[in-house]
Amino acid sequence: MSGAAGPAVEQPASFEFEPEVWAQAEKIIARYPEGRQQSAVMPLLDLAQRQHGWLPQAAIRCVAEKLGMPYIRAYEVATFYTMYNLAPVGKFHLQLCRTTPCWLRGADELRRAIKDRTGLSHAGVSDDGQFSLVEVECLGACCNAPMIQINDDFYEDLDYESCTNLLDRLAKDDVPAPGPVNGRRFSEPAEGRKTLLDRVEGAS
Ligand code: FES
Repeated sequence: MSGAAGPAVEQPASFEFEPEVWAQAEKIIARYPEGRQQSAVMPLLDLAQRQHGWLPQAAIRCVAEKLGMPYIRAYEVATFYTMYNLAPVGKFHLQLCRTTPCWLRGADELRRAIKDRTGLSHAGVSDDGQFSLVEVECLGACCNAPMIQINDDFYEDLDYESCTNLLDRLAKDDVPAPGPVNGRRFSEPAEGRKTLLDRVEGAS
């Protein structure tokens, strides 16, 4: 297992956007008024991360230069948000929410399932490179707590067993549909809808 919380020790010497990725970046930059291009720092860091797989310091420097801002300002953004991975991550990057609603609803059990299935008990990458883990603050899906973000998707209403099943499937590159795993519909009450009972299913 290797650590993934802080910046990677081994860093690439340089980074440059691929032409098609830079074309996307230019469209984003163009949304902002002249002189306000720095407002594009978050989506550009995200594009750089998606291109490279994680966010090396050379990519942060490249984004800062493209936007005409000091490196330290872009670095502050990249190190503040857990959505930016400053070191390599696994094929399936698990962001385990540990804030109060998820914790009260069983985040400790998900943590135990992750440790039992992947060997990861804290931030790091599994030996086979299939999984990485980081603990994060509220991801805004508290009504479906406890939950984990895996890559770009939320998996919700988990418990030890369903979390283990989820990880078993991912280990085989079998990616389930995101959302509640217990049959619940979106964030409706767990026992079914309580209001608007005369609403016709599928009607707007
Ligand atoms: S506390 Fe976990 S999503 Fe809000």
